[in-house]
Amino acid sequence: MKDIYILSIETSCDETSIAIVKNGNEVVALTILTQMDTHANFGGVVPEIASRMHTENITMVLEETLQKAKMKVSDCDAIAVTATPGLLGSLLVGVEFAKVLSYVYNLPLIKVNHLIGHIYANKIGDHLEFPNLSLIISGGHTELIKMTGDYEFEMLGETQDDAIGEAFDKVARVIGLKYPGGPNIEKLAKEGHNAYNLPKIANDDTYNFSYSGLKSSVINLVNKEKSKGNEINTADIACSFQTAAVEELTRKLELALKKTKIKNVIIAGGVSANKYLRGQIEEVCEKYNATLSLPEFIYCTDNAAMIGAAAYPLFLKGEFADLDLNATSTSRIC
Ligand code: KG4
Ligand code: ZN
Repeated sequence: MKDIYILSIETSCDETSIAIVKNGNEVVALTILTQMDTHANFGGVVPEIASRMHTENITMVLEETLQKAKMKVSDCDAIAVTATPGLLGSLLVGVEFAKVLSYVYNLPLIKVNHLIGHIYANKIGDHLEFPNLSLIISGGHTELIKMTGDYEFEMLGETQDDAIGEAFDKVARVIGLKYPGGPNIEKLAKEGHNAYNLPKIANDDTYNFSYSGLKSSVINLVNKEKSKGNEINTADIACSFQTAAVEELTRKLELALKKTKIKNVIIAGGVSANKYLRGQIEEVCEKYNATLSLPEFIYCTDNAAMIGAAAYPLFLKGEFADLDLNATSTSRIC
């Protein structure tokens, strides 16, 4: 069969990224332009600024990707784009850009869900095993999904309030760390101990998660100590929070492994870059004799290569979008 090259575009949040992906799992070229430093000045992503920066940079990101790949747009077989979920203004920049390329070069357009992209990041340089338990852990989502085949999803559980990445970012801000909080909490936690006994929030036998209570208990703890004029050991707080946040995931994953007897686990989304988390999940998988698939670090956070990987099964099925494709800020996988 002829090799299939998909030009893929990701602009759902604060990374402008374009990739060319061959046959759904080989990255020919990838460019990621992050706006992180700009948003760090405001303590979080400012949607208006994000969409303006995508508009300013997207053509340059395309040029750079084509140069790296030594290819032209017309050498590609399809254009894929993240159309949901994400920041509406940011998504729109990518979607409109993709539509223009699809029209001008007469290439089919493929609509990709960002979260499904995170799952398919595990397929890059590899393949997906089915059935599997996919744990999506990002800035906006915390979901445990059962996958029985390509694009066959069953929701087992999800967060009832905040996402895990959101909790990392908020706790980081409270203890004076810069955005994005996740990597900074991970770094500081290495210098601390699990000294604070934080509550186990969703300690029940559902597959649902909750992070708002854990976040609030850290904020209350910091405020209480501050009001008493006590010195706060931020490294201990970072370590205690990270331990509790990860334990919530491993507890639910363990429950799912026990009940479903599924032997393959996938971790997806920005928080999967956390090495402590990777280690703890690995331990649970070993205990249940399950195989763990982790994305390479570069494919953990937002990137267009994962969008190309997720677009490939849709290309094979001929599931193409029309030029009236629109972006939507919220959506569910299943
Ligand atoms: O998947 P992603 O890049 O964007 C979304 O789709 O949300 O995830 C971003 C989230 C942020 O909340 C960030 O703090 C978190 O992933 N993150 C981490 C780490 N690296 C990124 N959280 C914990 N530890 C990390 N090393
Ligand atoms: Zn993401």
